[in-house]
Amino acid sequence: MRIDVLTLFPAMFQGPMTESMLWKARDRGLLDLRLHDIRDFTTDKHNTADDIPYGGGGGMIMKAEPVVSAVEHVLQDAPPDTSVILLTPQGRVFNHQIAKELANHERLVFVCGRYEGIDDRVRQLVITDELSIGDYVLTGGELPTMVIIDAVIRHIPGVLGAEGAADSDSHADGILEGPHYTRPPVFRGLSVPAVLQEGNHAKLTTWRREQGLRRTWQQRPDLLLKADLTEAERYLLATFADEDAQSNRNES
Ligand code: ADE
Repeated sequence: MRIDVLTLFPAMFQGPMTESMLWKARDRGLLDLRLHDIRDFTTDKHNTADDIPYGGGGGMIMKAEPVVSAVEHVLQDAPPDTSVILLTPQGRVFNHQIAKELANHERLVFVCGRYEGIDDRVRQLVITDELSIGDYVLTGGELPTMVIIDAVIRHIPGVLGAEGAADSDSHADGILEGPHYTRPPVFRGLSVPAVLQEGNHAKLTTWRREQGLRRTWQQRPDLLLKADLTEAERYLLATFADEDAQSNRNES
């Protein structure tokens, strides 16, 4: 997959993009990541990438010309279905499903907004998708771009060690993963559950699913409204509810 990132701060990407999984993906030839400095597409002698807003108000607005030129430059040899994604708190909120969908693209372009915003004609002319990483405002689209690239490349076959590992992640099927343990078997009096040490695969699969459901019930019950659950799993949830009711009664 080739990803082009258009930013005023390419140096921000140095650390995350040269470490860990992202580096492995690049090293294995699975990710061709290209950073472009929007300032290189300015035409005036001061390399002006921002200007004051029409109508007044505080802050500076990213100018349309350099951003549109940069997008057109990277799209020259791109397939027509290439997504050009603007990072903005006004976009649809990024999630696991969107990460999976983006991983199917041969090419992606990320446009990192900065300052108070970006001239709206950029949106009208070249943007095909707008993504937010949550309902809060950051100082720019660089960190959201890194977050999204990290989440997307995990779905490219060959990036993670065990093929398909991303399919067992939390959120992959709408519920969270259960707890994980490694050695030692007992730490500060807390033991690793016996089922993890017994080697009974069927029992382990059932246990993992139950633990995932329990964790989702405890930490993100909102996810259960949309999860695809069997009758037995719904029954299990009812037992969690009974347990909670029982412990509330014991406390009062
Ligand atoms: N730029 C500023 N805040 C953002 C957010 N929450 N998501 C994506 N891009 C942003």
